[in-house]
Amino acid sequence: MKHLLKLMDLTTEEITEVLNLADQLKYEQKHGIEHPHLKGKTLGLVFEKESTRTRVSFEVGMYQLGGLAIFLSSKDLQSVRGEPAKDTARVLSRYLDGIMIRACDQKEAEILAEYSDVPVINGLTDLAHPCQVLADLMTVREYKGSLEGLKACFIGDGHNMMNSTIVGCLKMGMKVAAACPAGYEPAPQVLEFAKSHANFLLTHSPEEAVKDADVVATDVWVSMGQEAELDARKEIFSAYQVNQSLLSLAKPDVIVQHCLPAHRGEEISEQVLEAHAAEIFDEAENRLHAQKAVLVKLLTQNK
Ligand code: CP
Ligand code: NVA
Repeated sequence: MKHLLKLMDLTTEEITEVLNLADQLKYEQKHGIEHPHLKGKTLGLVFEKESTRTRVSFEVGMYQLGGLAIFLSSKDLQSVRGEPAKDTARVLSRYLDGIMIRACDQKEAEILAEYSDVPVINGLTDLAHPCQVLADLMTVREYKGSLEGLKACFIGDGHNMMNSTIVGCLKMGMKVAAACPAGYEPAPQVLEFAKSHANFLLTHSPEEAVKDADVVATDVWVSMGQEAELDARKEIFSAYQVNQSLLSLAKPDVIVQHCLPAHRGEEISEQVLEAHAAEIFDEAENRLHAQKAVLVKLLTQNK
């Protein structure tokens, strides 16, 4: 594993190794056991979009690992004045030991990785949100003990979160059912990957998808950059809310996952979010531990 651009690139074994290391780092952090694996290392955090969790968890994670994170808003980089990503990549790799990027377009992260001599981590693109889904898998494992054979259900938009959830869960031997409105299906490459798995279902019916699920996940109806479609999307997705009535079709001990930020009354009801706040905020916390594991894996291997 040289970069983390999307979960499709990782083997089941690599994902398991990250999750195991994340559990260990979480244990050590909770018990005051220092783990300065990245002493003297630096990570650049390039953001083309807003963030609360990703920025703070990467900055804190690097500090806890003994390294340094540098926040680089794309608004302040020369890329806004036209410097190409392939040059930014080659320059940043002369200073940094790793680069995290939150980009509008997956292609941007791919170009950065192609030209960078140091590992590149995808902190969200239109296609994928691998760090989030590693945290989600870690959380599900904490609640359920193991992943294999569990049924995960994702309700909503076939965007970054649905894409990565489908790939991550299938790679870990879970059953996956995804429900989205017509025209909002997951990315073609994700469907191509998923169709070889007998335990994958794509439907337009949230009720069908949620049946007997162990995990129900959702995400905003209007992702960053889609604000112009707000009114249309609210209408199109109105039948895709995770609420108590829908959740009653899942297993009685279902857990709920939401990458956050949440829009109560849209993709999730206030009641469901608050009833499942324990899992959802554990999931947010686990961004820190899962990403620290990714950083240790990527930044300590020989170039
Ligand atoms: N879930 C997530 O990536 O949150 P931020 O947008 O706040 O980083
Ligand atoms: N799908 C959302 C995820 C935010 C973490 C977005 O892209 O805005």
